[in-house]
Amino acid sequence: METIAIINQKGGVGKTTTAVNLAVALKKYYAKIMLIDMDPQGNAGTHLGVRADMDNSIGAVLLGEKKIKDIVIRSENIDVVPSNINLSGIEYNIANEIAPQMLLRDALKDVEYEYEVIVIDSPPSLGLLSVNVLTAADKVIIPVNDYLAMEGVSALLETINKVKKKLNGKLDVMGYLVTMKDFTSISNEVLERLQSHFSNKVLDTTIRENTVLAQAPGYGKSIFEYKKNCNGFKDYEALGEEVYRKINKV
Ligand SMILES: Nc1ncnc2c1ncn2[C@@H]1O[C@H](COP(=O)(O)OP(=O)(O)OP(=O)(O)O)[C@@H](O)[C@H]1O
Ligand SMILES: [Mg+2]
Repeated sequence: METIAIINQKGGVGKTTTAVNLAVALKKYYAKIMLIDMDPQGNAGTHLGVRADMDNSIGAVLLGEKKIKDIVIRSENIDVVPSNINLSGIEYNIANEIAPQMLLRDALKDVEYEYEVIVIDSPPSLGLLSVNVLTAADKVIIPVNDYLAMEGVSALLETINKVKKKLNGKLDVMGYLVTMKDFTSISNEVLERLQSHFSNKVLDTTIRENTVLAQAPGYGKSIFEYKKNCNGFKDYEALGEEVYRKINKV
């Protein structure tokens, strides 16, 4: 099982769009895929037309009230673990538990042999929920869409390194992903700067700006079900292939 977290504490950089469409793109290579929404906004579930009530969301799993396999909802042939706004309150409730950073990782032990890939969408913060994500993940993909998103990367890397040292030795950055790329100088400059800082870690795939990607969630569908062969479709298909190759080192 390979667990890939999509993370950046900056809001609106394309985390959810990437988590959802990557999870669906990976169906070409894997039969058993799980998508976990760890953001109280619940956008990843909504994007795939899945809604969670309090009792059947990732929050109930973190609180130990439910098993993860009991709350999955099937959409587009992947298993979605939805979130709910109550997750933001739960972040405070779990803080008093022993090893509160390990709750997601512990919950995933249950399904370790059932899934080939797990993709996790993260909230726009670096709190306990994100630390849970990093503690459970093997690899992270960091979407970056502009200068401000890039500025936050050093704080994110600090947190990643702390988690790697203390909680999860196998954690690694799979790559930086430029999202919402347009043809203005900003996107190109962001790409160039990322390449000069982290040359071998910038993914070959870039996600172009494409309004269709923003329309698809309104229909509860991934880009693959919503509109064939648009740029968003092609870019996330390419990302799926690149991620598959990186996982399998081919
Ligand atoms: N490549 C793209 N082209 C055009 N619009 C996009 C693209 N990627 C994402 N969007 C849109 O930009 C907005 C923010 O994207 P998204 O929700 O994926 O970001 P996020 O990082 O998950 O945000 P948050 O931090 O709030 O969770 C959404 O409306 C989304 O549909
Ligand atoms: Mg999001």
